[in-house]
Amino acid sequence: MSDKIIIFDTTLRDGEQSAGASMSVEEKIEIGKALDEMGVDVIEAGFPFASKGDFEAVEKVASNSKNSIVCGLARAQRTDIEAARNALKKAKRFRIHTFISTSDLHMKYKLRMNKVEVKDCIKRSVSMARNFTDDVEWSPEDASRSDRDFLYKTIEIAINYGARTINIPDTVGYSIPDEFGNLIKKIKSNVINIDKAIISVHCHNDLGLAVSNSLSAIVNGARQVECTINGIGERAGNAALEEIVMCLKTRKDLLPYKTGIKTKNISKISHLVSKTTGFFVQPNKAIVGKNAFAHESGIHQDGMLKHSNTYEIMTPESIGLSSSELVLGKHSGRHAFKVKLEELGFKIKEKELDKLFKKFKDLADKKKQLFEEDLIALVDDESSTNSKIKFIDLKVKCGSNLNANAEIQIEIDGKLKKSMSDGQGPIDSIFKSIQKIVANSAQLILFQVNSITKGVDAQAEVNVRLQESGISVQGQGKDIDTMVASAKAYINALNKLINKREKHKSGSMKFSSKIQPIDKHVI
Ligand code: KIV
Ligand code: ZN
Repeated sequence: MSDKIIIFDTTLRDGEQSAGASMSVEEKIEIGKALDEMGVDVIEAGFPFASKGDFEAVEKVASNSKNSIVCGLARAQRTDIEAARNALKKAKRFRIHTFISTSDLHMKYKLRMNKVEVKDCIKRSVSMARNFTDDVEWSPEDASRSDRDFLYKTIEIAINYGARTINIPDTVGYSIPDEFGNLIKKIKSNVINIDKAIISVHCHNDLGLAVSNSLSAIVNGARQVECTINGIGERAGNAALEEIVMCLKTRKDLLPYKTGIKTKNISKISHLVSKTTGFFVQPNKAIVGKNAFAHESGIHQDGMLKHSNTYEIMTPESIGLSSSELVLGKHSGRHAFKVKLEELGFKIKEKELDKLFKKFKDLADKKKQLFEEDLIALVDDESSTNSKIKFIDLKVKCGSNLNANAEIQIEIDGKLKKSMSDGQGPIDSIFKSIQKIVANSAQLILFQVNSITKGVDAQAEVNVRLQESGISVQGQGKDIDTMVASAKAYINALNKLINKREKHKSGSMKFSSKIQPIDKHVI
């Protein structure tokens, strides 16, 4: 049996299903490229039938991918499978991933189908997908809560009709590691044609066990794991790619498997996904949290100085971090700035570099010490200037004996707009002044401020969550001035809200759980 573990990343599909996460087509293309570069074997780029935006994103990720297989999700029905094929056809290599629930609970209440109908549906959907590609993955949704004998039978049917990857989802994150590992072992010994397919696993993190369950599945014979960057995904998320990969790398002694992931890209892609979705990575998150390599206690620091292995089981460099020491200052030149950005993995065109270098000099005038995080924030800020609504300028008046007032200038589709508002405090007045220009009924659900680096002159990172008619979005803004960072975060969220509103209007996001059976002539 091969020791290669296929890494199937579903950040752009299950990850985007996280409440509040929203990615534009351009953002998905950027993440898709980064996943491809990092060595992900299969990128699940979206659910093409879900909306025009999803279709376009899958199409673009497919045509941009150099090495990764690009995959699209499809329910077991004609419309979905056709949409997946149409979105994927420009890819060098593509996969159609089709699924249907197999648990009694899902079949009875969600699908309203009996076992015979579900088996019939598997035959038709897998055959139909096989007409379009040899690379078909099939998932029995809610597998871990399905009747075992029925599950084995459905897997056998899917393989007979052409599925070459069988993905076992722990859809509701209910399993525990021994139980889930055992399920994989039992599938291997009870499904008579299982040798014709690769077993994959897709674990959700509702009980915090997604990574452990995935590893237990590997030990018991799974050779593909489905995961997401930073573990984002439906509800509590999916198994985190970086945790699985680094676990396999660090514990080779007990887990003798390999992946094709370039681990040095992990830190950068984690940051990219966090910035894009607006989901902060908690400081103590394994591998990519801000504190994952920070040694705070005196005893630990002393140990580290004597020998790093005393308290370090993997190096920060192995995930692409260097120590967050002072990198550049006021007197650094354009060349040093460019080299540092390249070291951080940013390939910036000369014209953009001029703009960025100017911003860098402005920042260096305000801030004594510039850290890598500051440079990353500069690049992030520049990339958000391509949006529909752009921040231009802000003046705020506030204080203990003053009525707060904000005066904002923003650009919408290239046109400069100004407004002014009073409010209950500076943030309220900033947001109200923006609302006067960009009318919306969104409620502010969350407002959070973090500092990017240490020191009183650190840049602020503000996160806001807005909710409007069932749509929820996160926005992020960074600046040395917390008020400006707040305005940028609010504008960033509004850009995403506009984007998501359009998606809702254009798409068929209102899914019916009831499957429209594929006509009999398909098989
Ligand atoms: O969690 C799940 O069951 C899924 C399937 C579509 C694979 O995301
Ligand atoms: Zn899932």
